[in-house]
Amino acid sequence: MKTILITGCSSGFGLEIARTFLDRHDWTVVATMRTPRGEVLPTSDRLRVLPLDVTNPESIRHAIEAAGPINVLVNNAGIGFLNALEGTSMDTVRDVFETNTFGTMAMTQAVLPQFRARRSGVIVNVSSSVTLLPLHLLSIYTASKAAVNAFSEVLALELEQFDVRVRVVLPGRAPATAFGDNARSRMHAGFPEPYAKMVQTVFANFQQEGPITHASDVTEAVWRAATDPSCPMRLAAGADAVALMAA
Ligand SMILES: NC(=O)c1ccc[n+]([C@@H]2O[C@H](COP(=O)([O-])OP(=O)(O)OC[C@H]3O[C@@H](n4cnc5c(N)ncnc54)[C@H](OP(=O)(O)O)[C@@H]3O)[C@@H](O)[C@H]2O)c1
Repeated sequence: MKTILITGCSSGFGLEIARTFLDRHDWTVVATMRTPRGEVLPTSDRLRVLPLDVTNPESIRHAIEAAGPINVLVNNAGIGFLNALEGTSMDTVRDVFETNTFGTMAMTQAVLPQFRARRSGVIVNVSSSVTLLPLHLLSIYTASKAAVNAFSEVLALELEQFDVRVRVVLPGRAPATAFGDNARSRMHAGFPEPYAKMVQTVFANFQQEGPITHASDVTEAVWRAATDPSCPMRLAAGADAVALMAA
C-alpha cells in the first residue's frame, strides 16, 4: 500500500485527486487542508485528513510528522490573481509567491529526507498552462508558476541519483473549480484605469466557447505522474492545455 499526501484538498483539483486515489484501492490518502473538513471526502480507513497551511513552517512540520512515511507528494495548493502589474501591491505579489512557489519548495524540502533515505518517492507539482503562452494581466501568477516549472526541472536532475522523481502537471483553464472566485476575492483593489479596455477584453475572452479543463483531466495527469516512471517531465492536463503544449 502506497501513501500519497496532497495539499489543498478542500476543493477543486485537490479534492478530486484525493477522491481518485481513494477509489483506486491500493492507496492510502493524506488529504491536507488549511481548515480540515473531513466530510467532503468519503469515509475510509485509508484516508487521513490533516491541517496544513503551506505558507507556515510549523504547520508543514506538524503535517509531515503526523503523516508518517509517504511515497508521493502532490503540491496542488495554489492561489490565483489577475491584474496589471501597476494595480498589484507588493504584498499581493509576495502572497502569490508564498503559496504557489515557496509553499511548493518548502513542502518538497520537508519530504526529501525520507524520499532520499528510502531511495524512492515522487513529487508532483501542479503548475499551469499559462506558463506555455503569455496572457494579459497574469504576469505575477504566471511568474509564480513558471518558477515552479524551472524549480521542478532542475530538482529532477538533482534527485535522479536518489531515484526520486519530479513531475509537473500543467492544467488548462478550469472554470468549474472555486479558483476564479477565490482569485476575485483577492482583486478588490480594482484595475488601474489605463488598463480598463484590456480588462474588458480579457473578461470577454473568458466567456467565449472553447476547450477547457475538467478536474478529471488533472487527476488523470497526476495519476500518471505518480505511477508511470516513463511519463514526460511536463504533463498537460485538459484539452486546452494539451492543444497549447502541442502548438
Ligand atoms: N482552476 C484553474 O483554472 C487552474 C488552472 C491551472 C492551474 N490551476 C492550479 O491548480 C491548483 C488547484 O486549483 P483549483 O482550481 O483546484 O482551485 P481551488 O478550488 O481554489 O483550490 C485551491 C486549493 O488550494 C488551497 N490553498 C490555498 N492557499 C493555501 C495554503 N496557504 N495552504 C494550503 N492550502 C492552500 C485552497 O484551500 P482553502 O479552501 O483553505 O482556500 C484550496 O483547497 C492551484 O495550484 C492552481 O494554481 C488551476
